[in-house]
Amino acid sequence: MSELRTDRLVLRGWRASDLDPWAAMNADPVVREYFPEVLTREQSEASVAGFQADLDRRGWGWWAVEIAATGEFIGFTGLDPVEEGMPFSGVEAGWRLARPAWGHGYATEAARAAVAYAFEGLGLAEVLAVTAAGNLRSRAVMSRLGMTRDPADDFDDPEIPEGPLRRSVLYRLRAPGTKVRRPGAR
Ligand SMILES: CC(C)(COP(=O)(O)OP(=O)(O)OC[C@H]1O[C@@H](n2cnc3c(N)ncnc32)[C@H](O)[C@@H]1OP(=O)(O)O)[C@@H](O)C(=O)NCCC(=O)NCCS
Repeated sequence: MSELRTDRLVLRGWRASDLDPWAAMNADPVVREYFPEVLTREQSEASVAGFQADLDRRGWGWWAVEIAATGEFIGFTGLDPVEEGMPFSGVEAGWRLARPAWGHGYATEAARAAVAYAFEGLGLAEVLAVTAAGNLRSRAVMSRLGMTRDPADDFDDPEIPEGPLRRSVLYRLRAPGTKVRRPGAR
């Protein structure tokens, strides 16, 4: 599925015209507050190449998000396999929007479409989401999606250098109608 639509948004493949606003938002220290560093133009360009390659190869991943009514690019939302080396595995949902696009419900709306695709399109039983423990805005998106956090799943992200951003939280959402398997349960 190379494109998902919601009431207000289109999740789609990346275009050359996305590069400038994507690089600008990744150079914004507020957008990058819970990441170790802002990204250079080269890093932003390389990330887009990787995202599009994933979308081309498997049909899902980190989609560019635009406002349907105006065509304005506002950031990304999507799904990705959890990196190796994390203390859990699965597919995670994620989101990053340019600052003017915060506070409109766009991240939650886009993420709902991505999560629905994970369950209905990919048949996954669970979707995960991860963020720095202090990233309350992102955690609020997770809660609005109906995801829940078990404090026992909190972890130190091996990708993040020692420091206040390292402590991270894991949220989980089960597909409707599926049950959590507990050790020893039949
Ligand atoms: C994380 C991030 C995407 C959250 O964005 P957000 O705008 O706070 O989240 P939503 O899109 O769900 O919007 C919710 C807000 O829109 C408001 N809103 C306004 N109109 C709305 C509408 N029509 N429908 C729903 N919500 C609406 C809600 O009341 C809520 O406001 P609040 O924050 O004052 O409570 C954003 O902060 C971001 O890009 N951060 C930087 C990148 C990052 O950290 N990403 C996560 C890394 S894991």
